Amino acid sequence: MASTAEFITVATASDFPQSGDRIVIEVKGHYIAVFRVGTQYYAIEDLCTHDDGPLAEGELDGTVIECPRHGARFDLTSGKNLSMPAPAPVPWYETRLEGDDVQIKV
Ligand code: FES
Repeated sequence: MASTAEFITVATASDFPQSGDRIVIEVKGHYIAVFRVGTQYYAIEDLCTHDDGPLAEGELDGTVIECPRHGARFDLTSGKNLSMPAPAPVPWYETRLEGDDVQIKV
C-alpha cells in the first residue's frame, strides 16, 4: 500500500526566535513537540515512552531532550531512547524548512 505521509506546515521560523525554542502542536490527534536546535528543526511525539511525560517541557542538551518527570533522555535526531527509565524510542517525524515554513512529515 502506498504511504500517505506528507509534509504539512506546522509553524513558521519566526515561532522559534532562538535555538532551543520549542512548540507543541496537535496533528491528527497526536501532540508533537517541534524543537529548533541551531538552524535545524526536530519533531518528536510529546509523550515520554516511560509514563507520558511532556518532553517539550524538558531540558535540552544539544540534540538530547531530558524528560521533566523522571529524567529519561531521547535523541531528537532519531527519537532513540538513550537512558532509563524510557523503555522504547519516541515516535520521530522528518522535518524541513520550506521558505519560512516549518514542515513535518506525518
Ligand atoms: S515519564 Fe518520562 S522518564 Fe518517566
